[in-house]
Amino acid sequence: MTPQGFATLAGVLRAASGLAIGPDKQYLLDARLAPVLRKHGLADLDALAARLRAGAPALERELVEVMTTNESSFFRDEKPFAHVRTQSLPRLHAARPPKAKLRIWSAAASTGQEAYSLAIIVAESRALLGTREVEIVGTDIAREPLARAREGSFSQFEVQRGLPMQTLVRYFKKDGANWRIADPIRAMASFREWNLLDDLRPLGTFDIVFCRNVLIYFDPPTKARALEAIARQMAPDGVLYLGGAETVLGVTDRFAPIPGDRGVYGVAATATATAPRMPAAVAGTAR
Ligand SMILES: C[S@@+](CC[C@H](N)C(=O)[O-])C[C@H]1O[C@@H](n2cnc3c(N)ncnc32)[C@H](O)[C@@H]1O
Repeated sequence: MTPQGFATLAGVLRAASGLAIGPDKQYLLDARLAPVLRKHGLADLDALAARLRAGAPALERELVEVMTTNESSFFRDEKPFAHVRTQSLPRLHAARPPKAKLRIWSAAASTGQEAYSLAIIVAESRALLGTREVEIVGTDIAREPLARAREGSFSQFEVQRGLPMQTLVRYFKKDGANWRIADPIRAMASFREWNLLDDLRPLGTFDIVFCRNVLIYFDPPTKARALEAIARQMAPDGVLYLGGAETVLGVTDRFAPIPGDRGVYGVAATATATAPRMPAAVAGTAR
């Protein structure tokens, strides 16, 4: 691929999704875009770049869809979920008026395992929560994984990763070769297509945010922009959970680490009160 072709593809991806691809990752473009080239009868990546330069929104959409990494699993890394169960839910429940809804956001929801793991925790915390309403919102930029999340049907391989046997038996039903999540758990979560770089305000305010294993794909300014927008959508006593390889340190001061709990952050005092709103031109369009 020519340097100009590479610059076009990397530039389109960065602008559309935040995904930062360095020249050392050209192999990823080669591997993942081969089916797109075949489908559209394009000779090579330079031909694809030329088509994108001429303006091809549908093709740009396909590029984002195939270049995102949608890897996920139930109760991924365990600790953040245990923290929600034993720390955040009890604290936020005690802090809220009895009729207030608790809102939980899975901000890069992929195929839904994270949102459903949180829904299972909520179901198992009913003795604590009583009748308190809890809403779980899963968002992602990619459509195909979101469709799978809504479906709530997982392969044997997917349920074997992270789900203890008694949780599987209790909250899933065998459905042919797959396992379907139980209706009451599925009903707790809804899924929406949303780019973390778009205006997040229509999503409302959240008490708990999981933004795990997505910031690793962004460059530092894009990470800061996404985190600062997320901070503005959080209750002042809300909790943010990042992935094991992610941190706010050196990226933004809108979050402060919760001492002793790796990857868990509180909203810094100034974040919700004084942060300027994202200008419309930067925010883009909400879907
Ligand atoms: C590796 S998965 C993480 C799934 C889950 N959070 C977990 O930790 O298991 C990363 C997800 O981020 C999504 N993503 C990438 N860029 C995004 C963006 N700009 N806005 C929203 N989602 C994005 C991808 O589509 C993908 O589904």
